[in-house]
Amino acid sequence: MKKINFAIISMCMILVSCNNSAEKRQAATEKIKAGITKTDWGSADGKAVYLFTLTNKNGDEVRVSNYGGTITSWTMPDKNGNKTSIVLGFDSLSGYLAKPPYFGATIGRYGNRIANGKFNLGNTEYTLAQNNGKNSLHGGLKGFDKVVWDASPLIDSIPSLTLHYLSKDGEEGFPGNLSVAVKFSLSDDDALTIEYNAETDKPTPVNLTNHSYFNLSGDVSNTILDETLMINAGHYTPVDTSLIPTGEIKSVKGSPFDFTAPEKIGARIGQVKGGYDHNFVLNRKDSLLDLEATLFDPMTGRKLEVYTTQPGIQFYSGNFLDGSIKTSSGKPINQHAALCLETQHFPDSPNEPLFPSTILGPGEKYHSITEYKVLVVGKKD
Ligand code: BGC
Repeated sequence: MKKINFAIISMCMILVSCNNSAEKRQAATEKIKAGITKTDWGSADGKAVYLFTLTNKNGDEVRVSNYGGTITSWTMPDKNGNKTSIVLGFDSLSGYLAKPPYFGATIGRYGNRIANGKFNLGNTEYTLAQNNGKNSLHGGLKGFDKVVWDASPLIDSIPSLTLHYLSKDGEEGFPGNLSVAVKFSLSDDDALTIEYNAETDKPTPVNLTNHSYFNLSGDVSNTILDETLMINAGHYTPVDTSLIPTGEIKSVKGSPFDFTAPEKIGARIGQVKGGYDHNFVLNRKDSLLDLEATLFDPMTGRKLEVYTTQPGIQFYSGNFLDGSIKTSSGKPINQHAALCLETQHFPDSPNEPLFPSTILGPGEKYHSITEYKVLVVGKKD
């Protein structure tokens, strides 16, 4: 039944997209039902790659590929009705095969860095692929961002896509077969929910996140320095020169890391060597789905709310973007052209006994939810 719905809605959407006249398009737009379409997008590792488009009743779209579990675009209007994507991404698979810095990707088995690519579990020392100097970053040389996932699109009350991946025992040096499911759903009030589930057959560190780069203006010619950020974090984890936490959990008070009230990102970034690339320790003591960060672009009126069950957010201000990568329309992606708010556990937790544990054991269930919701302030009707 669900498969039939999927086929019918796909056909309707093809008909809608074939309709060229502006007036007719307007009429057809009203008929758009929340839905999901699937497009062939090439292949990688001998497996078929697809691009799925999740559309809600407003006609807003999130595109996700099963290559890397990657969000490739999130298109919605700004306050003037201009539709643009609020995340960095490419129009074709080749952009991703060129290994951009994790644009929109699902990150695993371990988001962010593990010092020297080593950790101990019991009496065993594990050695991971070192892909960031001597450290292991975002799961190693071929993390979850570079594999082809199995996909199950579904239309229930809202469109959703579940991706599955079995990360084999020993992959990138991690112990245990880890079975992972990531579900993306787009609601009619423009909330993109990402739900992560995982199980293992041996104890292993797990830290899953999404690496979308947001620029709420929808145009990489504008930096994110004029956007305003709030993070519900009274503390952060300072880092050494290779971006590994020192182990200290430091108060943000009186420092450029204090985003407890909304602050313009560019206001104090000059005081942070290299720019923001730090884990913020959320004040929350539970793991309920709560509003933990907001980002606002005064120019377009777009406001992003980040709800999560996770204990930390890695705020990365796009410091290493240097213009060498271009958008599909040829615009250079310069430093601070976009930012990431990666909801996750703290970097290097397997080597920091005082950080919340990231070790998943057999019989346990890894579960986390992050919801990115976009509102438009000052909309002109
Ligand atoms: C890290 C940065 C890194 C970026 C892209 C972020 O999550 O914190 O240090 O450069 O990902 O790889």
